[in-house]
Amino acid sequence: MARQQPAVATGGGREIAPATGKLGVMLVGLGAVSTTFIAGVENVRRGRALPIGSLSQMATIRLGKRTDKRAPKIKDFVPLADLQDLVFAAWDPIPDDAYTAAVKAGVLDRHEHLEPIKDFLQGIKPMPAVFDQYYVKRLQGTNVKRGKNKRELAEQLREDMRNFKQSAGVDRLVVVWCASTEVFLTPGPAHQSLQSFEQAMEQNDQSIAPSMLYAYAALMESIPFANGAPNLTVDIPVMERLAEERRVPIGGKDFKTGQTMMKSVLAPAFKARMLGLSGWYSTNILGNRDGEVLDDPESFKTKEESKLGLLEHILQPEVYPELYGKVYHKVRINYYPPRGDNKEGWDNIDIFGWLGYPMQIKVDFLCRDSILAAPIVLDLALFFDLAGRAGLSGIQEWLSFYFKSPQFAAGLYAEHDLFIQQTKLKNTLRWMMGEEQITHLGVEYYEYADR
Ligand SMILES: NC(=O)c1ccc[n+]([C@@H]2O[C@H](COP(=O)([O-])OP(=O)(O)OC[C@H]3O[C@@H](n4cnc5c(N)ncnc54)[C@H](O)[C@@H]3O)[C@@H](O)[C@H]2O)c1
Repeated sequence: MARQQPAVATGGGREIAPATGKLGVMLVGLGAVSTTFIAGVENVRRGRALPIGSLSQMATIRLGKRTDKRAPKIKDFVPLADLQDLVFAAWDPIPDDAYTAAVKAGVLDRHEHLEPIKDFLQGIKPMPAVFDQYYVKRLQGTNVKRGKNKRELAEQLREDMRNFKQSAGVDRLVVVWCASTEVFLTPGPAHQSLQSFEQAMEQNDQSIAPSMLYAYAALMESIPFANGAPNLTVDIPVMERLAEERRVPIGGKDFKTGQTMMKSVLAPAFKARMLGLSGWYSTNILGNRDGEVLDDPESFKTKEESKLGLLEHILQPEVYPELYGKVYHKVRINYYPPRGDNKEGWDNIDIFGWLGYPMQIKVDFLCRDSILAAPIVLDLALFFDLAGRAGLSGIQEWLSFYFKSPQFAAGLYAEHDLFIQQTKLKNTLRWMMGEEQITHLGVEYYEYADR
């Protein structure tokens, strides 16, 4: 990591190395989310669009008392990499360049947002991927690395990272997994220690998924790694330990975009008002490649686990058995090609109130999956880079805001409530910069505070 200039002294906060030079954003997968992210950043850089949905670019952060009227934009408060300094690279088993992949994904308007930056997008060609159809049944790839075992493949990924850093002249790298959802795996013996993991790679053990090889390669190269899919990837003891040892930030899992984002807003509202819940039925239709991959039951199981966990954590049925002890929660994803990336997510929510009287809420979210995910990729790339420069390593729980199944330290539980996550994110930024935490107590504004 480049430290050409003295670190920023932040008055009681962390020492943060400045964001000098370029930041290389390496994306695993060059599909709908990645291309929407890359094309979006380039359109923003050219002044052709706004980075809507990105906290790092658009949100403000209040500092001090409400009467101080200090609320800078986050990007003016913390030393983030500038959008002009981002350089992109990707791996994908499908050899399409970013322009072709974006046209095929069909998310962005070709004439408005792709043609004007065609040359730029065509310049981003995916490196051969570490890919194995065993882990993503519905895909076939030709742009694939060959090696005698998984360890050798991981070494090839490390070499890609070093080569890109050198050829693109970037100072720092971050890796974000934006590739397909892999089949469901549970942590096993191979995931416990570096020794068992490396041995398993050499023996081509099936419990080592491609995503883990990317994560291992990134950590060995001291590069922060964020996981946008529900795969285990960095959510295993060996990766957590490796990240601590090598002083690298990690985090995941699964970008929190449409339906789950709404769930993490509505469920805390019911709990805040002590309203009961008897059932939550969520179904989706989507027709993009992600939908096709998730049509495979084994990949869907990974997604389902990620989507189901949240309600239980938010509602705490063990604390409130009368309200949340018998919740019927169902999640379905249906592949329906005519919709492309424009997903429709329906929720039928059965709640009950005073004296147990039932009520219903229906949510019909006609969302655009990758439009919601792209700003998350941007924020994660910038905040993981910031975390690295601030010397934060291991799981970055303060970035739970962006994930459906946030990773957390042993002995804790995940925080899913979007507004607690937002407070945690902003307070972490204040803490990094040596500013006071905001507790929202506010007695100091009233007369009785002096008594
Ligand atoms: N869009 C959203 O709202 C959203 C939300 C949460 C999570 N996600 C997850 O993000 C990921 C990307 O979504 P998408 O809509 O861009 O899907 P996509 O199918 O358009 O793109 C995924 C790309 O990853 C590639 N890929 C698969 N295995 C790979 C490997 N081993 N190495 C390199 N590339 C590989 C595929 O070839 C494909 O091009 C999915 O796992 C999805 O579940 C998306």
